[in-house]
Amino acid sequence: MFSEKLLLRLKHSSGLTVLTGAGISAESGVPTFRGKDGLWENRKVEELATINAFQKDPVQFWKFYNWRRNLLKDVKPNLGHYALVDLERIYPEFHLITQNVDGLHTTAGNKNVIELHGNIMRDKCSECGYLNTEINLELKEPPKCTKCDKLTRPDVVLFGENLNNSDLSKAQESSATCELFISIGTSSLVEPAASLPLSAKGNGAYLVEINPEDTPLTQFVDEQLKGKSSKILTQIVMILDRMR
Ligand code: OAD
Repeated sequence: MFSEKLLLRLKHSSGLTVLTGAGISAESGVPTFRGKDGLWENRKVEELATINAFQKDPVQFWKFYNWRRNLLKDVKPNLGHYALVDLERIYPEFHLITQNVDGLHTTAGNKNVIELHGNIMRDKCSECGYLNTEINLELKEPPKCTKCDKLTRPDVVLFGENLNNSDLSKAQESSATCELFISIGTSSLVEPAASLPLSAKGNGAYLVEINPEDTPLTQFVDEQLKGKSSKILTQIVMILDRMR
């Protein structure tokens, strides 16, 4: 199933960088954004998760985010997440970049996680930036900041906003300097995350994609591992435990 070339890279690389998207959490029961189950009231994420939507209609905006938070509250990591904890143990230079805001990599036990799009289980004040982790899942109206009483929003990057500079720099640096890069469960449509695997490849990394579907990235990868992340990542860890 894995090529000889990939087995050699897995065995000898010191630096592994991984990028994950909603697909890695799909087997935990979290709907992906662009799958059939990802729509909310027949509306696309590009309409709902925007700074404009928050400013124009915070009530509707918060209904969507409250729904997503409630979906996540009892969700547990799956074997794919746990395999990435093993990979962090195995590789001396391991970087995990995620577009997911569900926090499941940290819950699984990964230490070094770059949450490129933030974390949905925190509120951030739209005025003073105060971060609050004591969130209310039974919202009756858009929540207000406990410090300055202005409207808060989830601490996620919305369409129309820039990513945190330091997180993005770390992600770019770890992509451009790794020997092996694995893109997992992402449709590779949203920038700047979508460019990270290409930067890795451009700088000499062996590029692997794990996804049951083809994506715009597929044509550029050195190896496509077509299937679900839990199964494929568990196999990779089993092989590595024998080899390294
Ligand atoms: P998408 O919903 O766009 O893509 C999910 C990908 O996961 C698809 O390519 C699926 O084929 C794949 N997939 C589904 N089940 C899988 C499984 N069991 N194993 C592996 N792959 C599987 O989600 P993202 O690419 O994460 O950003 O979306 C990127 C960003 O767009 C999100 O972070 C979010 C969204 O708008 C913001 O909100 C800023």
